[in-house]
Amino acid sequence: MNNPQLNKHGELQHLLSTEGLPARILTDILDRAAGFVNVAERGEIKKVPLLHGKSVFNVFFENSTRTRTTFEIAAKRLSADVVNLNIGSSSTSKGETLLDTVDNLCAMHADMFVVRHAQSGAAHLIAKHVAPEISVINAGDGRHAHPTQALLDMFTIRHYKKEFHNLRIAIVGDVLHSRVARSQIHALTTLGVPEVRVIAPKTLLPTGVEKMGVRVFHDMVQGLRDVDVVMMLRLQNERMQGAALPSAQEYFKYYGLTQEKLALAKEDAIVMHPGPMNRGVEIDSSVADGSHSVILPQVTFGIAVRMAVMSTLAGAK
Ligand code: CP
Repeated sequence: MNNPQLNKHGELQHLLSTEGLPARILTDILDRAAGFVNVAERGEIKKVPLLHGKSVFNVFFENSTRTRTTFEIAAKRLSADVVNLNIGSSSTSKGETLLDTVDNLCAMHADMFVVRHAQSGAAHLIAKHVAPEISVINAGDGRHAHPTQALLDMFTIRHYKKEFHNLRIAIVGDVLHSRVARSQIHALTTLGVPEVRVIAPKTLLPTGVEKMGVRVFHDMVQGLRDVDVVMMLRLQNERMQGAALPSAQEYFKYYGLTQEKLALAKEDAIVMHPGPMNRGVEIDSSVADGSHSVILPQVTFGIAVRMAVMSTLAGAK
């Protein structure tokens, strides 16, 4: 099947989604990222010249702390020129369309766009629109995809668990509205994780989620038993229409990760969260800050993984 992310040589031209990407490409990015973690640990030499002379435009139509900042750091470590478009003070507020904005940034010689948008498909639209030598990275579009988050999650899992083929992994919470969960499920199944579970109330699961290759649980006690990795999700209140839940307190009672519930997982289980966290809603502070948590290492690995993605795209011309 034709994949709009790949060029005619089968190389990654854009990163829009983990869906449909072969294991070879995912693994190459993780291996490349491992090299960049070593660069960061080399002391004072933190830069490599792989994107020297290239201009990376961060275009975020939705708020972000982790993704935008780590993309900026990653691009600078690759020696790129980085422009952060401030959407709040841009001409978008005067009615300029998304594609007109992009055309104007192309006229400023953009080589790469990192795009976050509330509309699913926005990054695909831009990728179809721009000249072939320009790459587009989806930094989160609606509830559709967040591929670099999934890749940094895969990197974190491989870092702590070494292999994918022997793992039982639970994704817990608001799968329905989560672009992160969708991208994680595609990546985990492609990389050969034999058992991916989703744990959520029926109101927070997409219809037919089983077709994505996951086991469905509605009960934390059953779903967390003997898992190696627990991946928590935030309640995406900004994407909910109407009340999907009685209250945040009720949600925490049944689906919040506490020490007691985590004890059902394997003794050496790791706890992940893409952020931002809502403490006391989906996760207890004692777990978020506890010895099983790898939530902050996820953020740090995000720099190396984004360096790997950008340098891969820059090499695929
Ligand atoms: N995980 C994530 O996308 O966080 P930000 O919204 O802060 O970028």
